[in-house]
Amino acid sequence: MSKQVRITDVSPRDGLQNEPIVIPAERKVRLIELLSRTGVDEIEVTSFVSPKWVPQLADAEEVAEAVESAYSANTVFSALVPNARGLERVLHINETAGFPLISKVSVFTAASETFSQRNTNATIAETIDRFRPVVESARASNLDLRGYISCAIACPFEGPIKPEKVAQVAFILYDMGIHEIDLGDTIGVAYPADIAALLSAVFMNFDEEDAEYAKFTLHLHDTFGRAADCVRTALEMGVRSFDGSAAGLGGCPYASKPGAPAPGNIATELLVRTIHAAGYETNVDLDALAAASAYAAKIVADSRATGTHA
Ligand code: HMG
Ligand code: MG
Repeated sequence: MSKQVRITDVSPRDGLQNEPIVIPAERKVRLIELLSRTGVDEIEVTSFVSPKWVPQLADAEEVAEAVESAYSANTVFSALVPNARGLERVLHINETAGFPLISKVSVFTAASETFSQRNTNATIAETIDRFRPVVESARASNLDLRGYISCAIACPFEGPIKPEKVAQVAFILYDMGIHEIDLGDTIGVAYPADIAALLSAVFMNFDEEDAEYAKFTLHLHDTFGRAADCVRTALEMGVRSFDGSAAGLGGCPYASKPGAPAPGNIATELLVRTIHAAGYETNVDLDALAAASAYAAKIVADSRATGTHA
């Protein structure tokens, strides 16, 4: 099996969506420019969700249009979309650019009904119905698709989630044409044994032919410092794609509870070091990543000190 591992940095989206302060668009663009020099395979550049729900990313168009300067064919630019309206916004960006600047769109649902309601005002089944026109139109426009499943280990409101429930949602997404499934430990509580149980249940639903097409990504938040151990387990079980966030920023605003703010993602630098130390390879240059991570940490610190609240 290949030793090459794919890295997606989600800091411009997951990293900044939960900040109490809106980061200026030009600083987000600069972060994406720095990330695009690191060798990461994909950057989640922003999110085309309702600005009423996530005001921190209300500047999605401004950011997406400006990052054309950082575009290179070696790095995929992707973005979150919750519905057909979000996809239309992406298609408009691509039309203006004259090429698929954002070549992948990521839809998101959950394995917990309570979280799904809080995050998208919809049941899991309703979110999936919203994806149908997105999938059809994305495929017609030759865009790749990723489907996130949040609360793949536990929900901040419902507690532990059964791996079988995640496996069921994963197969529904796959069956409707979303062939990259991204399993999210939204609140960063997994132990390696939980990851093993999750992956075993999800993989069991895919027969050999499906497994050839299905791609699985692991999206770990890191509340208790166990995410790196979970990465090692997932590598052993065949996962070759992971998300991280520069400087470990991140968190879903709708996963926060009083006294328990949503935790950051595994830092991309820790993720990459863990993968290399385990004997696998990535395309990432750690020095360039250090520069991007330092900038990510700086813009958040500056904004907290001086900015306006979202
Ligand atoms: P809703 O309020 O039920 O639906 O929101 P709506 O259709 O009534 O929309 C409300 C308003 O937003 C309307 O505007 C719409 O036009 C507008 P109004 O008529 O009131 O002026 N609207 C939009 N505007 C721009 N772009 C759009 C769009 N859609 C509607 N695409 C909705 C439903 C899904 C839109 C909302 O719940 C939403 O945007 N939720 C997103 C929440 C979010 O972004 N959460 C964080 C990302 S998920 C995450 O972090 C987890 C992840 O990292 C994995 C993990 O860690 O587990 C991915
Ligand atoms: Mg997340």
